[in-house]
Amino acid sequence: MKKECVLVSGGAGYIGSHTAVALVEAGFDVVIADNLSNSDMNAVEGVRRITGRDIPFVNVDCCDTEAFARLFEQYDFGSVIHFAAFKAVGESVAEPMKYYRNNLLSFMNVIELMRRYGRRNIVFSSSATVYGEADTLPVTEQTPRKPATSPYGNTKQMCEDILRDACKAYDNLQGIALRYFNPIGAHPSALIGELPRGVPQNLVPFITQTAAGIRECLSIFGDDYPTPDGSCLRDYIDVTDLAKAHVVAIKRMVEGGCKESYEIFNIGTGNGVSVFELVRGFERVNNLKLNYRVTPRRAGDVPAVWADTSLANTELGWRAERTLDETLASAWAWEKHIRNI
Ligand code: UD1
Repeated sequence: MKKECVLVSGGAGYIGSHTAVALVEAGFDVVIADNLSNSDMNAVEGVRRITGRDIPFVNVDCCDTEAFARLFEQYDFGSVIHFAAFKAVGESVAEPMKYYRNNLLSFMNVIELMRRYGRRNIVFSSSATVYGEADTLPVTEQTPRKPATSPYGNTKQMCEDILRDACKAYDNLQGIALRYFNPIGAHPSALIGELPRGVPQNLVPFITQTAAGIRECLSIFGDDYPTPDGSCLRDYIDVTDLAKAHVVAIKRMVEGGCKESYEIFNIGTGNGVSVFELVRGFERVNNLKLNYRVTPRRAGDVPAVWADTSLANTELGWRAERTLDETLASAWAWEKHIRNI
């Protein structure tokens, strides 16, 4: 049987690079497309080193329709995993048009080119941000989405809707949206991981950079939430487990296992972990002390959100496997690797 080839758009990014590795390990061919606007070739080199394969890389902006079309002409992939998008919540509030243009246009291009070139399967990177402050926890895929609180979150909701409508209208298209909770950690080889530009906005990169001495002090945003220890609860999902969820989603589509032409799955661990628990876990596992202080709440943060993962467990046969300790150790191993510590 011919090997299925998968286009990974945004494959030089954090989740994309881990997913490219997982796909190759599962026997797929992979093409990475990325415009390196928020990533660099080291990630692609890391993927090549881990897999021992000279994976093709194309520097292309998915918003550039003609250049992107040439990629479809050049490579015979049947499936696409679309990661390429901007993802900084605060920046999206300051520069909404940058987010709407990039995130929506690139996604519409993907779908239109898939139609033009007869490609069938698409996985879209969605986010738990679509649930906002949910009325019930944990959230299931049926939990109503709340109006987005940022343009970034709005692009996730809009892309989900675009995909739903396209899969309904076009017989040859099937799509899966994976709603990621909080991806953290790095590949066990420490050859790929998360590399934020500038000051990290997310918790774990801020922790690892504080441990590395790049940041002086971690701010814990609020200890007065209605949660057991007063800090927010999140569902931290290991990035290599998350990567494997993409593999099973692609397999489901390739093997004709979808129940609907458009499906949604929560991808998390099913556990809510507090900021204090995460910080203490990081200190314990890596045997170090973090400099931190409690500061006021960050605007827009929801007190708690974690996933009901039963649908992914039963339908995809997927569940998170790595322990939080392993993940926190891998995050620190990656930071040490890139800082030569
Ligand atoms: C955010 C985005 C989410 C996006 C995800 C990407 C929102 C509201 N959040 O999730 O859409 O998909 O990033 O990973 O849209 N914290 C601190 N100190 C810090 C940084 C964070 O205490 O320096 C706390 C936050 O208050 C929060 C938790 O750590 O309780 C996790 O924060 P973060 O890593 O930024 O993720 P989210 O805000 O959950």
